[in-house]
Amino acid sequence: MGQNNTDIKPVKPVKTDKIDADHVIIFDTTLRDGEQSPGASMSLEEKIQVAEILDQMGVDIIEAGFPIASPGDFESVRQVAKTVKSASVCGLARASIKDIDRAGHALRDAVNPRVHTFISTSPVHMKYKLQMHADDVLEMVTSSVTHARTYTDNVEWSAEDATRTEHDFLCRCVEAAIKAGAGTINIPDTVGYTVPEEMFALIKMLHERVDGADNVIFSTHCHNDLGMAVANSLAGVRAGARQVECTINGLGERAGNAALEEIVMAINTRNDVLPFWTNIDPTFITRASKLVSAVTAFPVQPNKAIVGKNAFAHESGIHQDGMLKNTQTYEIMTPDSIGLKESSLVMGKHSGRHAFEEKLKDLGYELPDNDFQDAFKRFKNLADHKKHVFDEDIEALVDDQVSKANENIKVVALTVIAGTGGPQKATITLEVEGHHETREATGEGPVDSIFNAIKEIVNHNGHLALYEVSAVTAGTDAQAEVMVRLSEDGRIVTGRSADQDTMVASAKAYISALNKLMAKREKDGVDAKLHIVE
Ligand code: KIV
Ligand code: ZN
Repeated sequence: MGQNNTDIKPVKPVKTDKIDADHVIIFDTTLRDGEQSPGASMSLEEKIQVAEILDQMGVDIIEAGFPIASPGDFESVRQVAKTVKSASVCGLARASIKDIDRAGHALRDAVNPRVHTFISTSPVHMKYKLQMHADDVLEMVTSSVTHARTYTDNVEWSAEDATRTEHDFLCRCVEAAIKAGAGTINIPDTVGYTVPEEMFALIKMLHERVDGADNVIFSTHCHNDLGMAVANSLAGVRAGARQVECTINGLGERAGNAALEEIVMAINTRNDVLPFWTNIDPTFITRASKLVSAVTAFPVQPNKAIVGKNAFAHESGIHQDGMLKNTQTYEIMTPDSIGLKESSLVMGKHSGRHAFEEKLKDLGYELPDNDFQDAFKRFKNLADHKKHVFDEDIEALVDDQVSKANENIKVVALTVIAGTGGPQKATITLEVEGHHETREATGEGPVDSIFNAIKEIVNHNGHLALYEVSAVTAGTDAQAEVMVRLSEDGRIVTGRSADQDTMVASAKAYISALNKLMAKREKDGVDAKLHIVE
């Protein structure tokens, strides 16, 4: 152990200790690789919200999307580039002129645009995916980076599947990218295959063997298929990498990417053995995690490091006793350091507008006036029905409102008949593009009846892939949080909603998923019109 672990170190290394050579650049790809998680799609407004919090928390580079993927992706990169004030905004492009042009155009308004271009370099990817010879791949490294440089000096090049690439060839590709003008060289562990020792050796090898390596920043981009994404990224940093690509909550393709909060808190908490620093203000971590979970409708596992519900909970008697005597007995970081406040009671139905506004500020929300008025109304309504309103209730309520602000289909009214007698029946009124439509349906239970009634109004082929209910707080009057995942022709979307009535939350979560499905169809250029059943 490097140091007496009862001394909790400062959450951020003291400013005067910082030297540039120890600065680890945080490149967040929640909006690109994170959004590639099946079902984690975000709307334009949600992406902007996430980008804003990433910018505020000190992320250096925000990868906002893959502009060639669809007009929707192009537009979201363009809007994020316009909105973000401090961070560099990045767009991903394959090694083709068309891709790079789309990225370059989408980033036109960014304060500091970065074009990130990549090509696969491993034998298995070159043979089966690209069906190209190594020499042609090498040529494309040079031509793609050269073209990207016509848009910006800030070009990143990635060797997709680098950790399964033959070393000599990887060195030649990296050297070609540097010669063509890439300032950042990313070494992705695309399939989450490597182990820390191997990652360390790989980055060291590149530093030692590649001409010009000292003039560029090496980066890691580790996937979590074997649960080692964070360990591999930190091994890369110890070997000399100075950029880490990561996502909030570890979102990303398959098992996800290295989690930003784990990278940052590992560096901050174990600065004795990881003597580096980042620009991240860790007190934003909790808020960012909750926002990303809410807009993607991807729950955070309770025992997830740093941001899981149980990360600071102490259940056993021995631990609780130790904590009461001295919190350092079982806590290596404080909840405060990641912006986790003790859940506090919000004054009930007598709370005024001002108190509510203060509470929102305290929780990190700044709502425009209209949204604030709506949120206040919903809070009053909840306080009328729920004895104690906690911070989590307010967060669920506001997140619900924000994520549904621009939806085309809305739940207006719902009545459900449930119980032992059957048949269970639901009558629902939806607002669909401004018109009210009411239908009634029966089903195998109340939830099935609601979903059937919705299908009677909006025709779709979405298959229900997940239906999950959890309680926002304790108590029988708690709000229910419902997640609904729909899958239609390979398009996977997740809707989330919270309400004191589990059936209402279920209907709203289903409708939220349907809205996302329509948006996804539109993004893919597929008929997105809502077909109302006559
Ligand atoms: O995992 C990967 O290799 C990627 C690249 C596009 C950087 O996401
Ligand atoms: Zn990736």
